[in-house]
Amino acid sequence: MSVPRKKTLAFGLVTLALALPACGADIAAGEKKANEVCAACHGPDGNKPIAPEYPKLGGQHRDYLAKTLKDYKSGARTNPIMAGQAQALTNKEIEDLAAYYASRPSTLVTKR
Ligand code: HEC
Repeated sequence: MSVPRKKTLAFGLVTLALALPACGADIAAGEKKANEVCAACHGPDGNKPIAPEYPKLGGQHRDYLAKTLKDYKSGARTNPIMAGQAQALTNKEIEDLAAYYASRPSTLVTKR
């Protein structure tokens, strides 16, 4: 049975609508929040953490950053420090922060 054209179009539009919020992320707002809060541990641009157990964030994938922050917030990923940080963030702030850190130069390396 073939899928009617109208359904295919509707599916495409729904997919587009779901993808749009990420495009609305505000990098400048993310930068402001990052400098106020996150830089204390993750360093400027997320690239100079204060200790090795604090991960680098600069240049990480936007969708990874947003997902992991939402996971800390929901408890799907557990870490006492980041749970507290993520719970203080709205979903909009998470998208802004993810867009900001993804836009920074990457110093991430593959170790194996
Ligand atoms: C008090 C120190 C501290 C502050 C402030 C802090 N973090 Fe973290 N962050 C950590 C630690 C420690 C980890 C590692 C936790 C773990 O192992 O899951 C981490 C992990 C993360 C990760 C996961 C990185 C990865 O590679 O999986 C993200 C994303 C993140 N932080 C974003 C943020 C953002 C955005 C802010 C500001 C709203 C912030 N952090 C503020 C200490 C901090």
